[in-house]
Amino acid sequence: MTTDIRDLPEAQVDRALDLACLAFHEKTGDAARKRHRETLLDCDRVGAYDGDDLVGFTAAHRLRLSVPGGELPAAGLDFVSVAPTHRRRGALTGMMGGLWRRCAAAGQLLACLWASEDAIYGRFGFGTATEAYTVEIDSTRPLDLRIAPDGRPLRLLDPKDAVPVIGPLYEAGRARRGGRLARDEAWWRRSVLADDEDGDSDGGPPCVVVLGEKGAPAAGYAVYQVADKGTVNVQEMEAADASAAAALWSYLASIDLTRKVRAWAVPADDPLLLFAADRDRVRVTGQWPALWLRLVDVAAALTARSWAAPADVVLDVRDRALPANAGRFRLVAGPSGAAYEPTGAPADLALDVRELAACYLGGTRLRRLVRAGLAEERTPGAARLLDAALETEYLPFTGEDY
Ligand SMILES: CC(C)(COP(=O)(O)OP(=O)(O)OC[C@H]1O[C@@H](n2cnc3c(N)ncnc32)[C@H](O)[C@@H]1OP(=O)(O)O)[C@@H](O)C(=O)NCCC(=O)NCCS
Repeated sequence: MTTDIRDLPEAQVDRALDLACLAFHEKTGDAARKRHRETLLDCDRVGAYDGDDLVGFTAAHRLRLSVPGGELPAAGLDFVSVAPTHRRRGALTGMMGGLWRRCAAAGQLLACLWASEDAIYGRFGFGTATEAYTVEIDSTRPLDLRIAPDGRPLRLLDPKDAVPVIGPLYEAGRARRGGRLARDEAWWRRSVLADDEDGDSDGGPPCVVVLGEKGAPAAGYAVYQVADKGTVNVQEMEAADASAAAALWSYLASIDLTRKVRAWAVPADDPLLLFAADRDRVRVTGQWPALWLRLVDVAAALTARSWAAPADVVLDVRDRALPANAGRFRLVAGPSGAAYEPTGAPADLALDVRELAACYLGGTRLRRLVRAGLAEERTPGAARLLDAALETEYLPFTGEDY
């Protein structure tokens, strides 16, 4: 089969949504469909065509992703769908090729996605760059903590009025951790504070609780819903420090007529896991790859992030899909910046571009990949040196499946 890869025009957005629903076995209500439509109009859209028939589709959000020391433009893949009649004939591969060309034209150094199946994206150079934990608290008794919670008042906000209050805290958290997305008002409304008008979830509209006096900058917030069965589902929490986090977790674990708190995604270094006095009642029930990252332009991406310590290493990078990234390069990096140039010198480390992506935000230690047989250390100590340079104060985290 020859599949044509073309931009998908606005007039075909409904066809694309039908195809996505078919591929994901999903039915969407009117409100969700309207939201998806609105989202897609803001995205770059690529279609795979068999003649005039749309047989594959993917969209790319134009994102700004936090990376150590700043943020970079990134294509956020979404709605990746191929018709069941046309799978395994190269439609996705073709669409990926189309996306790389668009990334280059738009100056997007990175691409990222949430994978419905982990086996799909490594071959396209994506590595898992952030990890998330699902945490459950047995809240049948008061939550016992080893630190004192922040004593400032808690108040509930109408989600419609919440963004000016909680937005700055989100931004502060985003500056601390790689892997987080910039949000505008529409993104907050669609992805974080959306009312479930179709009634698909059993939690009703989101509640927003804020720590701090009215009129003063907030010290923390949580967005949550209470499900019928007495579970407090925490969608997102941001706290300026540990005592603010303690106040919010204590509140969430003390809501009447509830028995459990479930936070679907928290960072692996969330302080709750240390300051909870009884870890039998605060359990990690899931640990999973969150954001898959692709370094579309390795040289530009490596020289754009900040570095914690000096490193001078030669990397031999494999990249089947984007040959401009492949070959031997000397990376000279340190707190004052980085240079990355082709070299004929022997390599200290050899690795696939997906492994480089896994390490890029500081969430995966290269030494672990070497031990797992996924990267080759040719000069003893080179992986340790590069790990020290890649290290970040906080682990990267992506807490929203856009
Ligand atoms: C996943 C999906 C997009 C793949 O599209 P496709 O057009 O069949 O993919 P391609 O033919 O380009 O396959 C490229 C390669 O990926 C592999 N691959 C594709 N889907 C895979 C999967 N689910 N698991 C493992 N490998 C997969 C193919 O075997 C092929 O391998 P090869 O290069 O070694 O031959 C398609 O099956 C689909 O729409 N599935 C349902 C929706 C979905 O899961 N989307 C992904 C959301 S993150």
